[in-house]
Amino acid sequence: AKLVLLGPPGAGKGTQARMLEETFGLVQLSTGDLLRAAVAAGTEAGRAAKAVMEAGDLVSDEIVIAILRDRLGEPDCAAGVILDGFPRTTVQAEALDGLLADIGQDIRAAISLEVDDSAMVTRISGRYTCGGCGEGYHDSFKTPAVEGKCDKCGGTEMKRRADDNAETVTQRLVAYHAQTAPLISYYDARGVLARVDAMAPIGDVAKELNAVVTATL
Ligand code: AP5
Ligand code: ZN
Repeated sequence: AKLVLLGPPGAGKGTQARMLEETFGLVQLSTGDLLRAAVAAGTEAGRAAKAVMEAGDLVSDEIVIAILRDRLGEPDCAAGVILDGFPRTTVQAEALDGLLADIGQDIRAAISLEVDDSAMVTRISGRYTCGGCGEGYHDSFKTPAVEGKCDKCGGTEMKRRADDNAETVTQRLVAYHAQTAPLISYYDARGVLARVDAMAPIGDVAKELNAVVTATL
């Protein structure tokens, strides 16, 4: 892996990771997306994860690390990946170091997307994605050029996530502060941390990120 994106739910990790993927030829690897795919496919891991995700809690390290390990071993990841939503605990961060050492990669930058908790509910409750290609949108902050029609693939089936409601978001923020925020100092101590102001508009955040990534890759 090359990049880790850290930040609370709704910070813009997925939005920015998709742009970085195109700009830098890296592969976006989102454990949230991998888990939602496992839930949809009804695998053993998916069955175990479903209720936990709907409650806004973190899925067990064991399940998430196994899913990430499998995906990281696929050939397209050799070019380098952007980790979006992983690691989320110290146990996961330590496991990641081991997995990367095995494939001869290391973390070039851990980028913390810094936002106020107060912005999160608005961002998340307005979010929807294209069912065809996964492009993310927002009712106010990122609308397609033609209403209801995806800019990227022309698809018209838009989806909202089961965990994007005010109650679950509150619990996701609690889990973030308790279990994930400590990773900011974990990566700072290793000298790979960069902080980006993610309260700015999407395009401005993207510019700042591009500069950070260009300087570190
Ligand atoms: P996951 O899918 O990772 O969700 P999350 O961390 O809660 O993050 P989100 O996807 O909600 O937000 P984002 O930062 O990607 O924001 P986005 O770009 O969409 O995890 C879901 C669940 O899976 C977890 O709760 C947990 O149960 C489980 N899980 C996943 N990984 C795990 C792990 N490693 N360990 C254990 N459990 C795990 O942006 C949000 C909205 O805002 C969009 O509509 C977007 O258009 C808009 N927006 C983005 N940027 C801006 C901006 N700058 N200004 C205005 N609007 C913006
Ligand atoms: Zn689409």
